[in-house]
Amino acid sequence: MKKPSKKNIAFLSLAGGAWLWLNRHGDLHVTLKSLKSDVAAIRERDPAAANLIEALTCYSGLHAIMIHRLTHFFFNQGVPVAPRIVSQMNRFLTGIEIHPAAEIGEGFFIDHGSGVVIGETTEIGDNVTLYQGVTLGGTGKEHGKRHPTLEDGVTVGAGAKVLGSITVGENAKIGAGSVVIHDVPPNSTVVGNPGRPVRERGRKVGAADLDWTHLPDPVADAMQSLVRRVVELENEFKTAFPEKRETIEKAQGEGERELERIFEYYDGSGI
Ligand SMILES: CC(C)(COP(=O)(O)OP(=O)(O)OC[C@H]1O[C@@H](n2cnc3c(N)ncnc32)[C@H](O)[C@@H]1OP(=O)(O)O)[C@@H](O)C(=O)NCCC(=O)NCCS
Repeated sequence: MKKPSKKNIAFLSLAGGAWLWLNRHGDLHVTLKSLKSDVAAIRERDPAAANLIEALTCYSGLHAIMIHRLTHFFFNQGVPVAPRIVSQMNRFLTGIEIHPAAEIGEGFFIDHGSGVVIGETTEIGDNVTLYQGVTLGGTGKEHGKRHPTLEDGVTVGAGAKVLGSITVGENAKIGAGSVVIHDVPPNSTVVGNPGRPVRERGRKVGAADLDWTHLPDPVADAMQSLVRRVVELENEFKTAFPEKRETIEKAQGEGERELERIFEYYDGSGI
């Protein structure tokens, strides 16, 4: 077998060293994993994406997030100015401005792209979708954390403005053209300016509630809240008195089984 040249050995050592240094906190691995999930997100969420080549070449939203993943990586490594410059070039190329500090989870999808702005202290969970013209911005009145947090599975419609340090709960939808400046509960839909909920926790707002089998039960609610409090106290007790841990855990296990039976009864199973 041919012996590798000194030049090749030097190159491979340099590349290996650079990889190990860049990945010293595991960031590079996370970046590459996120990029893979972004490509998969396009194919999952846009029926127009016929194949991988089309996804890679025709989606400026994908190009923008790819560049952001790199600027964010170098921003976290403490590289000065360059990530901001590259993010401005990103905006020039794709029409999408993402501050390098913005934290974005896996499976992120920006459809159509143009006109999207994502501010510095924005936090975005996994599997979030934004359409063109969305602003995740500040109100201009806050300091520190001043941009929104979007939890997993959120969709923000075209042209919507989500402003301030607010939280949009899991799987919530923001209608196209809405302006939202207050927290949005999970599984809700908010539309209009100012944003108003038309669906809350999966239920249509203002519609007659014809679900007679799941009536509110204040006694069960009060019991559940007391049980939660007791469990918290027991857990604190376990930390304060580790020698009693085993006895407490045994009692907790028995109590939980009994409670499950009671709550099943409240849910209509009968005892
Ligand atoms: C809000 C949205 C997600 C629909 O959610 P939904 O929970 O299914 O809501 P519904 O369609 O049942 O509509 C509920 C109410 O909100 C109104 N509404 C829906 N979308 C709205 C919007 N963007 N702006 C203002 N009102 C809207 C409906 O007219 C309806 O009003 P009504 O109860 O008085 O009749 C959807 O309308 C939307 O805006 N999606 C964004 C899509 C987008 O940006 N596409 C761009 C593709 S390029």
